[in-house]
Amino acid sequence: METKVLFVCLGNICRSPMAQAVFQGLIDAQGLSERFLVDSAGTSGHHNGQNYHRETRRVVEKYKLPLAGKSRGVSYDDLAEFDYIVAMDNSNFEVLLSLDSRGTHRAKISKLLDYSALSSKYKLGVPDPYYGDGDGFELVYEIILDGCKGLLKEIVGRQR
Ligand code: 4NP
Repeated sequence: METKVLFVCLGNICRSPMAQAVFQGLIDAQGLSERFLVDSAGTSGHHNGQNYHRETRRVVEKYKLPLAGKSRGVSYDDLAEFDYIVAMDNSNFEVLLSLDSRGTHRAKISKLLDYSALSSKYKLGVPDPYYGDGDGFELVYEIILDGCKGLLKEIVGRQR
């Protein structure tokens, strides 16, 4: 059965779609795409139906990563549906824990930087590039790439 991975940020226009594309790129490159379903969502739902941020799309195109879809809000059903629900930062993580008020899905909810040594530098998680001048998206790409590599290693290790 395929492993379902959902990346979650606030708006689902900047960080989580980038993580979706980066993770998809990694599994494509390793011939693992058949074994995964990858998606992203946001805790706010404020950008529902909108295209992902132009800077996220620019970075994704630059690295020739696959990305389709539009912004959507995360729902309780997602917690049941996905095997790994991966928050971009501490705040998104806390929102996911409150959505899972009975703790049913607690074991599936984590933060991307749980899988990266960069967590000691970025204690709040993957920084939000939305309010910056655009430079932030390249940095965010590097951080997300490191986290996604760690996440994939963790998942593949558990499947052995
Ligand atoms: P994201 O970035 O959570 O990485 O998609 C943001 C996008 C939109 C807003 C904040 C952060 N906003 O306030 O609209």
